[in-house]
Amino acid sequence: MANVTVIGAQWGDEGKGKIVDWLASRADAVVRFQGGHNAGHTLVIDGKTYKLSLLPSGIVSGTLSVIGNGVVLDPWALRDEVAKVEGQGVSITDENLAIADNCPLILPLHRDLDGLRETAAGKGKIGTTGRGIGPAYEDKVGRRAIRVCDLAHLDTLEPQLDRLCAHHDALRAGFGQPPVDRAALLEELREIAPFVLKFAQPVWKRLKKVRRAGAKILFEGAQGVLLDVDHGTYPFVTSSNTVSGTAASGSGLGPNSTGFVLGIVKAYTTRVGSGPFPTELEDEIGQGLGERGHEFGTVTGRKRRVGWFDAVLVRQSCAISGVTGIALTKIDVLDGMEKVKICTGYRLRGKVYDYLPSHAADQAECEPIYEEMPGWSESTAGARSYADLPAAAIKYIQRIQELIECPVALVSTSPERDDTILMRDPFVD
Ligand code: IMP
Repeated sequence: MANVTVIGAQWGDEGKGKIVDWLASRADAVVRFQGGHNAGHTLVIDGKTYKLSLLPSGIVSGTLSVIGNGVVLDPWALRDEVAKVEGQGVSITDENLAIADNCPLILPLHRDLDGLRETAAGKGKIGTTGRGIGPAYEDKVGRRAIRVCDLAHLDTLEPQLDRLCAHHDALRAGFGQPPVDRAALLEELREIAPFVLKFAQPVWKRLKKVRRAGAKILFEGAQGVLLDVDHGTYPFVTSSNTVSGTAASGSGLGPNSTGFVLGIVKAYTTRVGSGPFPTELEDEIGQGLGERGHEFGTVTGRKRRVGWFDAVLVRQSCAISGVTGIALTKIDVLDGMEKVKICTGYRLRGKVYDYLPSHAADQAECEPIYEEMPGWSESTAGARSYADLPAAAIKYIQRIQELIECPVALVSTSPERDDTILMRDPFVD
């Protein structure tokens, strides 16, 4: 298997950044295939911290970085991010960055609508990142989006813009907002177009060439399977398909290109935003885990909700996404706990479930059934081989592996790249 697809197997924030960085350093191309600048990946390379939202992680090491058609692209956010990363000494050219010319754009009107809806929803809000992701995907499937390739045809864009704005004006009127200023929007697009068009191309063609040459491709997923618009905790999800299959459709390569599917799994559970979370801990144990794990969102700075490891959810994610092996991260955050718990099933209205039911109300009522295991007082931080781990931590990892019915390919024991225990190399296996 020459290629690797990395996906989050929980609600995002599983620690994909470090693993993706390690894999990106050995890949010939890194491809983002869904989501947008709602993602946040922190890379630490040679002591320098890079915060990426939209740019694929390969960009820092000069590897060909591709933004696929499955992504929704905010061109102004991209320009800011490129300027920031270039300011850190990274060169970004059309040699190392390619953007799909059929990628839909996120416009200021999408951000407006995201904010208006969330405010109007009050307590029922989804807790989005406010980046306009959902409204941009709606316009894509509604067949009225402005796409990257349209930026090369601004002189004939007016009818398209009229159609899009007519739709948004009606929605905005419902929120008591003025119509979209079309002339100003067209002017903004005119101004940003040359910057985006520099990188625009049919990326499926470029990737086909790369693949023919036998190169290793890393598909970099954002968010997590439980935020998938079909398979996640709907409606408290993002608006894209976050599962591994999207790597193919969101880049223009076939389903046989995804290779080894590496599911990133945190040794406990976190979530940002609203929605069901059966193993959530609202006590001092959760507080302690959140503090030790620095559980604050990279993009919005919001405090993450924290809970015990939920084997039911991860088993479901691994099955849905065809995970070949998992990378277990942040095991060191559990160091020093007297006992650790794993959720092995749910109780719902007198019945036992070994999966998360689809309805939001059922999900909210699921009561976790726990298995308790002894914790460990020794430190796992920085361990680089299985032999360095305390016996209780090994038992915990083995139990997780059994319950999720998927092998552990690697264990991460600190944010440092080398603090990793490798059982199976995704690029070789
Ligand atoms: P949206 O993607 O901004 O529409 O947000 C929808 C839901 O997905 C919210 O609960 C967000 O907190 C969550 N979300 C979006 N992107 C991420 C991410 O990169 N990590 C974790 N949660 C995310």
